[in-house]
Amino acid sequence: MKIGVIGSGNIGGNLGKHWAKAGHEVMFTSRHPNELNQLVQEAGNNAKAVSLDEAWEAKADVYLLATPFEAIDKLSELYAGEYGGRVIIDATNPYPERDGEMAKEVRESNRNASEYTAMKFNTAKTAKAFNTIYADHLKDRAFRDTDKLAIPYAAQDQQSKEVTQKLIEDIGFDAVYVGELKDTKAMDPDQKLYGKSVSRKELEALL
Ligand SMILES: NC(=O)c1ccc[n+]([C@@H]2O[C@H](COP(=O)([O-])OP(=O)(O)OC[C@H]3O[C@@H](n4cnc5c(N)ncnc54)[C@H](OP(=O)(O)O)[C@@H]3O)[C@@H](O)[C@H]2O)c1
Repeated sequence: MKIGVIGSGNIGGNLGKHWAKAGHEVMFTSRHPNELNQLVQEAGNNAKAVSLDEAWEAKADVYLLATPFEAIDKLSELYAGEYGGRVIIDATNPYPERDGEMAKEVRESNRNASEYTAMKFNTAKTAKAFNTIYADHLKDRAFRDTDKLAIPYAAQDQQSKEVTQKLIEDIGFDAVYVGELKDTKAMDPDQKLYGKSVSRKELEALL
């Protein structure tokens, strides 16, 4: 698949490297793409660094959203003409101390964070995944044949569900389907699946 990584930090950088290793075509983005040389080198031949404009214009099969939560408003507005029908995997989390008032409002609303993203990127097909795992575990515990870590995920439709499941499994994690976006409260910060690096069996028990 062609994957646009929006935000190439702890989460986006590590996921992009894993996906490139698994044979996917990865476009890392940054507001300063010339600063991504080392990451691209580490990721190997299947990866390159591009600007945000180039990534969205390239019509990737899937976009990973791995920026601070507050970037959602601006990105969804700026690229509204580009992401229609694309799959977006949302790995973000709202933290008021980092993201300000909009994150506080989402935390206090009766809407899950994933539903906020889907509302903003309303012509895309949104899935939620990789927001509950620590970046270090994402980095160090991928590509296991046994004792795999479980990654919970949720999706808005069949296509986003299948794509997300595949992208979890391709890098050696177990994909555990939580449900639709309305069912993702358990994945939000401080909720029962958040920060839990456990097996499929243990994750299903928590659910
Ligand atoms: N760290 C974790 O353990 C962890 C675990 C699960 C989920 N998360 C969530 O995943 C998201 C990313 O976390 P992270 O730890 O990977 O953060 P990070 O290391 O700070 O990386 C985020 C990247 O987003 C880019 N960015 C920042 N503001 C942007 C904007 N307005 N528009 C476009 N790009 C922007 C930055 O790149 P440039 O400055 O180069 O543009 C930065 O490298 C957050 O929502 C976080 O809550 C984090």
